[in-house]
Amino acid sequence: MTTAIVVAVDGPAASGKTTLAKRLAEANGLRFLDTGLLYRAVARRVLARGQSPADEPAAAAAAEAVSADDLDPQALSAERIGEGASIVAVHPAVRRALLAFQRDFAARPPGAVLAGRDIGSVVCPDATLKLFITATPEVRARRRFEELRSRGEVVMYERVLQDVVERDRRDQDRAVAPLSAAPDAIRIDTSALDLDASLAALQAALDARRAPPHRKT
Ligand code: C5P
Repeated sequence: MTTAIVVAVDGPAASGKTTLAKRLAEANGLRFLDTGLLYRAVARRVLARGQSPADEPAAAAAAEAVSADDLDPQALSAERIGEGASIVAVHPAVRRALLAFQRDFAARPPGAVLAGRDIGSVVCPDATLKLFITATPEVRARRRFEELRSRGEVVMYERVLQDVVERDRRDQDRAVAPLSAAPDAIRIDTSALDLDASLAALQAALDARRAPPHRKT
């Protein structure tokens, strides 16, 4: 039995869920885990050994070896690693190997916000609050395009959109823990919202969940 507050923030690639989840954690004194980094760290280990992300035993061995020290966002930000992450993520043995790390992280008081694809559905089905962040593929591709360009990368919008659609397809179609909103998740569409307005929507959902049932206004 734990008293930790756990907020599950799921959603597709470039929905803004990671930035929003991190800000929500900071604003509420909760710890934060971007679970995408775990899959990226697995891909990085596999690629560094010259192995293929499609090789399940190799990816599972890499997943067993992943630790908190591997989760440096800078070292894991390359598109090639993101691509590899979505390939290693289809392997059941990889997902199994990463489960304990995520659950241990969530269980430690005072609690945590976890951003990912299957947090509300598989990793923390008993989360205090489950949020599903969405935006249209075009809006998500536009945001990622601007972000890559601001980092000095030369990219074409059409190519970024194609990657977003392809990544969605792979995340939604995989047999194990596909990207989908848990039935009890609150959906927040950020297509027409800026960062502050999106964050306010997440905070309002958390406040409503934490409010005592008979609070006087
Ligand atoms: O969120 P990010 O782009 O860093 O995630 C990289 C990949 O890792 C995703 O495309 C997805 O396939 C996988 N992933 C996952 N489950 C999670 C987090 C990420 O399958 N909880």
